[in-house]
Amino acid sequence: MLEYDKEHILHPYAPSNPALDMTFVKSAKGVYLELDDGKKIIDAMSSWWSVIHGYNVESLNNAAVEQISKVSHVMFGGITHEPAIRLAKKLIEITDKPLERVFFSDSGSVAVEVALKMAFQYWRSQGNSQKSKILAFSKGYHGDTFGAMSVCDPVTGMHTAFEGILHKNIFAEAPGCAYAEQWDEKYICDFASKLEQNHEEIAAVIIEPIVQGAGGMRMYSAEFLKSVRVLCDKYDVLLILDEIATGFGRTGKLFAYEHATVSPDILCVGKALTGGYMSLAATLTTKNVMRGVESNGNVLMHGPTFMANPLACAVANASLELLFDSPWQQRVLAIELQLKEELAQCNTLDVVEEVRVLGAIGVVELNRDVDLAWMTQKFIDKGVWLRPFLNLVYIMPPYIISPKELTQVTQAIVDVLKEFTCYDTSR
Ligand SMILES: Cc1ncc(COP(=O)(O)O)c(C=O)c1O
Repeated sequence: MLEYDKEHILHPYAPSNPALDMTFVKSAKGVYLELDDGKKIIDAMSSWWSVIHGYNVESLNNAAVEQISKVSHVMFGGITHEPAIRLAKKLIEITDKPLERVFFSDSGSVAVEVALKMAFQYWRSQGNSQKSKILAFSKGYHGDTFGAMSVCDPVTGMHTAFEGILHKNIFAEAPGCAYAEQWDEKYICDFASKLEQNHEEIAAVIIEPIVQGAGGMRMYSAEFLKSVRVLCDKYDVLLILDEIATGFGRTGKLFAYEHATVSPDILCVGKALTGGYMSLAATLTTKNVMRGVESNGNVLMHGPTFMANPLACAVANASLELLFDSPWQQRVLAIELQLKEELAQCNTLDVVEEVRVLGAIGVVELNRDVDLAWMTQKFIDKGVWLRPFLNLVYIMPPYIISPKELTQVTQAIVDVLKEFTCYDTSR
């Protein structure tokens, strides 16, 4: 099977026919992935932010089985169903008050595409076609589809690969004030001046609240986000918050924008929405934005085949129920405290630039890029699944991880980075 995979199946951001085999997962339970040889390793990535309750969870399994015996999928054009209605109601209840219109889609990237369409259609339907750009941020990441790519970091994103094809947007400097750092107005100057100079052609600002994820794993000041909201209002520009990675408790708040008590015009959620069981995302917006979109008889121009898939919605409902029935705040706080304490050892290593922790997210930034194959195997040998990216070794475990399991992960990071300090990456 591994030979077949190597020859025929493409994996994320990887060459076809790669030199090394993929890691073969047979099954998963709790925080553990079981490999083909029976070895069990801790998934410290929550399958890219999504598996917050761990794998193979009874209530989520039951929700899927129950729903599959009713209807696993039905088109959403002209039809509706209970799982979608219940989920929309719940999302409206748990997000900021003005957000009361929900568009379901099948992935985070598509949720971002929908958010961008909402923003552009909001202005166009009201007769303003001049607003045809988005103001985004360096080090931002919003997905891999064309609209989403066009608002990702222009250097580490895919702008070079798709030069001349991607829509040209405007970029402000990445938030420069770290999460717990003393706020200073100088940090917002670049954003403020880009907005002041270009607001007539800017439809919306898009930003990941508090944590810039895949573009650099950077945690920034709530004051920065507050200032972004104030300036969007001042210049009459919509604010899109991308909570696809941070939503559902990951940063210690249910949604990361709560750190800054700001309210977006458009909000994107995904990943942990179904507890990582299946692909589902949502774009929420206000009555006011939809009124704008629908001016002059227009409608929002999007409608995926698997929109509001009943199976995914049923599991999402069960996942949210499980989250709210659990002491998730205490769990995330305990993970944060333990990560802070145990990852601090990394600071003594020459190869380490900085250690950052917020909620159930731990980041060790190195002063050089890792050898991905070498490091992944080292972690597997120590019973841990981690997937470093460039010079970042980062962890976002399922909330159910025990202190002992978490120590196994942090100790693996410390030990492997000690070895990496002496490892010659040119070999
Ligand atoms: C902040 C953010 N936005 C959007 C996306 C894209 O989501 P998906 O991979 O489900 O398309 C991601 C994925 O990592 C993300 O972290």
